[in-house]
Formats: sequence, C-alpha cells, structure tokens
Amino acid sequence: MSLLFTPLEIRGRTFNNRIWLAPMSQYCSPDGVVSDWHLAHLGGFAIGRVGLVMTEGTAMLPTGRLTPLCPGLWNDEQEHAWKRITDFVHSQGTLMGIQLCHAGRKASVAPPTAGAGPIPHEHGGWQTVAPSAVSFDELPEPRAMTNEDLEEVLQAHVASAHRAITANFDVLEVHAAHGTLLHQFLSPLSNRRTDEYGGTLENRMRYPLAVLTAVRNAWPQDRPMFVRISATDWVNGGWTIQESIILSDELRAVGIDLIDVSSGGSHPTAPIPDDVNYQISLAEQLKAASPGFTAAGGRITDSAQAEAVIQSGKADAVFLGRQLLRDPHWPLRAAKELSFKIRWPNEYRLAARWE
Ligand SMILES: Cc1cc2nc3c(=O)[nH]c(=O)nc-3n(C[C@H](O)[C@H](O)[C@H](O)COP(=O)(O)O)c2cc1C
Repeated sequence: MSLLFTPLEIRGRTFNNRIWLAPMSQYCSPDGVVSDWHLAHLGGFAIGRVGLVMTEGTAMLPTGRLTPLCPGLWNDEQEHAWKRITDFVHSQGTLMGIQLCHAGRKASVAPPTAGAGPIPHEHGGWQTVAPSAVSFDELPEPRAMTNEDLEEVLQAHVASAHRAITANFDVLEVHAAHGTLLHQFLSPLSNRRTDEYGGTLENRMRYPLAVLTAVRNAWPQDRPMFVRISATDWVNGGWTIQESIILSDELRAVGIDLIDVSSGGSHPTAPIPDDVNYQISLAEQLKAASPGFTAAGGRITDSAQAEAVIQSGKADAVFLGRQLLRDPHWPLRAAKELSFKIRWPNEYRLAARWE
C-alpha cells in the first residue's frame, strides 16, 4: 500500500497525498503582483495532483523582497491576484499554502537571470536590514535592526497573515531557512547582537519565536501553519542540528504544526554534502528528537525514493522542487509506478490508461 498517496490531516484540513510542491521563486512579479504566469505555473501542479501547492517566498514588506520581481502580500492588488490562484487550485481539490519570506541582509539583489548581484540605489536598490551589520558574501552591509524595525517587521507578518486568510490560503508557512531574516537571527554567523536578541540560543530564538507566535495567533485555529528551517548551517560556529531540535520543540509548543526541514544558506561556501539523502537524514534526526509533523525535501526525483521516505517514517510529507518543474504531473506518473489508483482530472481522463 502506498503511504505517499495516503491523505494527511492537520487541523481538519486534508492533504490528498504527501507529494508537496516546494516553494520556488519565479522572479516575475512586478510591484509584487502575481500574474497569469503564476496561474498557469501553480495551477499546473494542482492539475498534476500534488497534495499541496506552496507559493514561492512572498514578502510582507517591499524591503523584505529578495529581488524587485518577487511577489508580495501587503496590498489589495496583490491579495486579489493571489485569490484568483487559490480559487483555481481549490477547484482541483488541492490545498494551497503561502510562504512568507523576509530576505533581510540578502534582499535588494537582481534576479538570477540578471546576475543576482546587489542593485545600486540609483537603480532601485534599497538599504537592507538584518539582526547585525554583518554582510553576506559580497552584498552591501545591512543596517542592524532597531526595536522599531523589529516591531514593524513583526506587525507586517501579522498583516500579511490576515490578507492570506482573505486570499483563502489553507496553509501558511514562514520561511526561517536559507539565510533569510529569521534564520539570520538564529545563526551566530549573522547575529552578533548584544541585547536580548543575540548571544545565547535562547536570545537568538527570541525574535523568530515572537514573530511566529504572533502569526500563529493571527492565523485561524483550523488552518495549519508550517515553518521552514535550515536544520544546520553546515559550518563550524554556525547553527546546528542540536539547536534545531531545541527550536523545533519551542515551535511545536507555540502551535506550529509542521517543521519543513531544509539546510544551509547562511554561509556562501558551506560544504553542503553530495549524497541524495542529505536532508532526509536531518528531518529524520529532528523528527526522532522532537516528535510531530515533519516534511523533508531536496533531490527527490523518483517515486520509489519518495515512497521510501514516507514508509520509513523519516518524514510525513516530501517537498519536491526541480523534479516538479521538469514534470508538473509527476504525481500522476508516481501513482502509476506505485500501483495507486489516483483520480485524474476529468479533462485528462483519456490519458489515464497508460497502454
Ligand atoms: C528556482 C528555485 C527557486 C527557489 N525558491 C525558493 C523559495 O522561494 N523559498 C524556499 O524556501 N526555497 C526555495 N527554493 C528551494 C526549494 O524549495 C527546494 O528546497 C530545493 O530546490 C531542493 O529541492 P529539489 O532538489 O527538489 O529541487 C528554490 C529552489 C529553486 C530551484
């Protein structure tokens, strides 16, 4: 029996299966507004029957965007544009999640197709903020956040969570991985503060936990909330799996339903392992030490591999990124390979027989 295709229920919301679309930036949202591209792109995965369509990292403030072409959720136009997409995804019987992301010291860069470098002020770049005035790689120095900044960014998360309710998202995920702002607070590589938000692990977790608690309080009790973390920075002196386990316990205690395990992003040359299961084993360690829903991803490409992750109990769901870009209908193919009878969209039913 396939466990990959066994539904999963969290807070009364049912995911049809455990194959979930990983958040993936598209860099094509002028003024932070998603477009027809997103309807076709994200809608395609719903047609392909993923169990959860997750948006790319979406900012709660203009200055939180990684690039000027990343989407946002701070005004009505953006909210309405997202609602059109959640409506379509729901029409396919699929749940939809939004990933909220503040890029902190990594913000104000050009999209990868334009070189991914810092954008000068005269070309629309902006002053970035971060826990401390410590640059990432070759990027300009961020400004250390004041107490007013901390409050503004926290309230912006809450405001976007309210808009995400109106836009009818089922799941809210906060990005605290890959060297984004909340991860910058967690990691000693980027957090050099000497106030109550820096130094000890308890202090470094304080601001992320304050934001996540506020968002959880704003997000409806019958809708799941996830947090994506980098379980390790992969460098000495950085954030560790042991700290992730302690954080995970704290997150579960404030009502975070699922930890989405990723890694890296705090250090430009961190030695990220080569093996296929590099992140699955992090999810396994985290779930064993901090029981509760956990998702894993990274380099999952085939159905047997995905099924094995769920069968082994190392994670409750898998996030697939690049493989779903290659084949947006991958779950339909995986169901066939695992001999699971999946309901195809009516419009495609003549293709459901594979001879
Ligand atoms: C084009 C692209 C954009 C991405 N953007 C995001 C993002 O916005 N937020 C995020 O948490 N991860 C992002 N990621 C990381 C993916 O979610 C995923 O963790 C990573 O690609 C590894 O999974 P994969 O091997 O299945 O692709 C991105 C990855 C790709 C390839």
